[in-house]
Amino acid sequence: MKAIVQDRFGAPEVLELREIDQPEPGDDEVLVRVHAASVNPADWYAMTGTPWVARPQMGLRKPKSRLGLDLAGVVEAVGGNVTRLEPGDEVFGAGTGTLAEYVTVPEDALVLKPAKVSFEQAAAVPVAGLTALQGLRDKGRVQPGQQVLINGASGGVGTFAVQIAKALGAEVTGVCSTRNLDLVASLGADQVIDYTKEDFTRNDRRYDLLFDVAGSRSWAACRRVLTQRATLVMVGAPKGNRLLGPLDHLGKVRLASLRASQKVLFFISKSRNEDLAALQHLLQAGTVTSVVERSYPLSETADALRYLGEGHAQGKLVISV
Ligand SMILES: NC(=O)c1ccc[n+]([C@@H]2O[C@H](COP(=O)([O-])OP(=O)(O)OC[C@H]3O[C@@H](n4cnc5c(N)ncnc54)[C@H](OP(=O)(O)O)[C@@H]3O)[C@@H](O)[C@H]2O)c1
Repeated sequence: MKAIVQDRFGAPEVLELREIDQPEPGDDEVLVRVHAASVNPADWYAMTGTPWVARPQMGLRKPKSRLGLDLAGVVEAVGGNVTRLEPGDEVFGAGTGTLAEYVTVPEDALVLKPAKVSFEQAAAVPVAGLTALQGLRDKGRVQPGQQVLINGASGGVGTFAVQIAKALGAEVTGVCSTRNLDLVASLGADQVIDYTKEDFTRNDRRYDLLFDVAGSRSWAACRRVLTQRATLVMVGAPKGNRLLGPLDHLGKVRLASLRASQKVLFFISKSRNEDLAALQHLLQAGTVTSVVERSYPLSETADALRYLGEGHAQGKLVISV
């Protein structure tokens, strides 16, 4: 089968489309013929081998695993213990090495794809959708009527976060650049702030939850717009230096906020079957739709990661396999 492989860490040029052996499903696994995948900043970090503190997980000298975390496709074969899925089922979910024609995934990491949602739209969902859902519902504990600010509302996580925060009943303010103002408003944001023209931390409004995808501002600035009992959920941060990467910003905010009355949390999203099912229902109901800026063929994955690495993708970048 064809797959994206890399023998060393580096810029997108290290990625190659190569013929490798097709995997076989273990007893609890499903073999999926991938129709679409999508790229996430986590793939960019895994490709470049940065930040260096993450090298024990990524591989000290060369990559331990292939790229790709999101997938949508058709079940080709199932292991002996698999009961929920069967060959022919159209599924989406989270895996490892999904930038390939076939991938084996634990049964729990997949749910059925709603028929009205395309493979490309479904492949855009897993990592970004789970991050938005778990960050807002479980970490931010959004309540109906609360004021929620999403900083970085127009990218992969942000476009899902705006829609999910609205579905949870919040009054949502989205922060993005000029070209994305209409998009973020169309996703349901009640207010949209253009960060190239206005500083959201100099706003008169006060927010119960700051869902910080961009991580572009210091704690001292962010706290100005938080209520006394607010929560700051740190989702992402600028790429930072090669040693610490985004941990540099996350650590600084954590330290600076130690004595604050507000709650400050960082989390890493997890692939949970019940949360994928919740996203499946939101897609089925039309409450959430994927925003896909562009779809690339598998052979052009390097271009997708190069563009993603610039940090200004609009919604998701999908790979069509
Ligand atoms: N904690 C977790 O489990 C988890 C999971 C997934 C992702 N993440 C992290 O979350 C971050 C975003 O991921 P993603 O998939 O959404 O990335 P993405 O698709 O590349 O989106 C990045 C977005 O950030 C916006 N942005 C850039 N600079 C900004 C600024 N100064 N103020 C406000 N918005 C700004 C861009 O909008 P404009 O084009 O309008 O500038 C772009 O739409 C990354 O740091 C990623 O590593 C964390």
